[in-house]
Amino acid sequence: MIKRITELLIQFLEIDISSYEESFIEKSINKKMDDARCDSLEDYFELLKISANERSILIDSLKNSYSEFFRNPLSFSVLERIVLPQLVAKLKNKSHGELRIWSAACASGQEVYSLAMLLEEMRSVSAEHFSYRIFATDKSEEQISKAQAGFYTGNDLNNVTMRRIKRWFTKQGENYSVIPELKQNIHYSVFDLFDENLSAPPASIFGDFDIVLCANILFYYRGGHKDMILKKVRNSLSVEGILLTGESERDILLSAGFREVYPQSAIFRG
Ligand SMILES: C[S@@+](CC[C@H](N)C(=O)[O-])C[C@H]1O[C@@H](n2cnc3c(N)ncnc32)[C@H](O)[C@@H]1O
Repeated sequence: MIKRITELLIQFLEIDISSYEESFIEKSINKKMDDARCDSLEDYFELLKISANERSILIDSLKNSYSEFFRNPLSFSVLERIVLPQLVAKLKNKSHGELRIWSAACASGQEVYSLAMLLEEMRSVSAEHFSYRIFATDKSEEQISKAQAGFYTGNDLNNVTMRRIKRWFTKQGENYSVIPELKQNIHYSVFDLFDENLSAPPASIFGDFDIVLCANILFYYRGGHKDMILKKVRNSLSVEGILLTGESERDILLSAGFREVYPQSAIFRG
C-alpha cells in the first residue's frame, strides 16, 4: 500500500521520492494518516485520491524543510567555544584570510543566521580581525527565498536568547526580521546536491570550505544517495575542514569513515 501511495504522489505531483529511504516515507505517511484520522492505509489512499489538500500536506512533510535556530545546542556550543576560535587562529596562515562556510541544505535560513550571529559576536570581541563568507544553498527555490527574506515568527525564535533577538532582529508586528548587518556576508543560491556537473556552489568558485553544514538531510535518502552527498561534501572541505550534521545522522557519518571531533557533537573531520 505504501508503494501505491508513493506511485500516486509521483503521478499527481511529479515529485521524485524514489531516492528516499522507505522507512522515512513510511513514517511520514503513518504520521499524516493519523493526523487525518484514517484507520487504515486503504482509507488514507482513498483520501489522497480525492483531496488535493491532503496530497499537498503529505508532500510538504516529505519535502521536510523543518529547521530551527541553534538546532543542536551541543554542536553550536562546541562551534562557539572551540571550533570557531581554532579556525580563526589558523586563518593567519591562509592566503585568502577568510573563513569559508557552506550551508548545503539551509532550508529557510535558521542555521545560517545562527552561525552568522556567533561569527559576528566573535568579531566584535576578537583581537584578530577576520572576515567570513557563508554560501547558503538549498535545492528548493522557495526555501532559498525564505532564507534570504530572513522573516520569522516569534515561535521560530524560541531557541534564540532575548539578548540576541534584540541585537540581530527587528520586530514587525508579531514577527521578526533579521537585520541587514547579519546578512552582509551571506550569499544565497539554489543548489542541488545531486547535480553531477557541480561540485560546490558556483559562487564559491573553488569550494575549499573550512566548515560545511549538511544537517538533517542525509537521513531521508537511500544508501547510494547518502554516499553521493557525502562524497560531494568531503571533496569540498579544506584539509582541516569541519563537517556539521544532524544529531540523528552521527551513525551515518561514523560508518562512512568520518571522525567525530568531539564526542556526541555531530561535528566531523573527513
Ligand atoms: C530538514 S531540512 C534541514 C534544514 C537545516 N539543515 C537544519 O538542520 O535545520 C532539509 C533541507 O534539505 C533540502 N534538500 C533536500 N534534498 C536536497 C538536495 N538534493 N540538495 C540540496 N538540498 C536538499 C530540503 O529542501 C530542505 O530544505
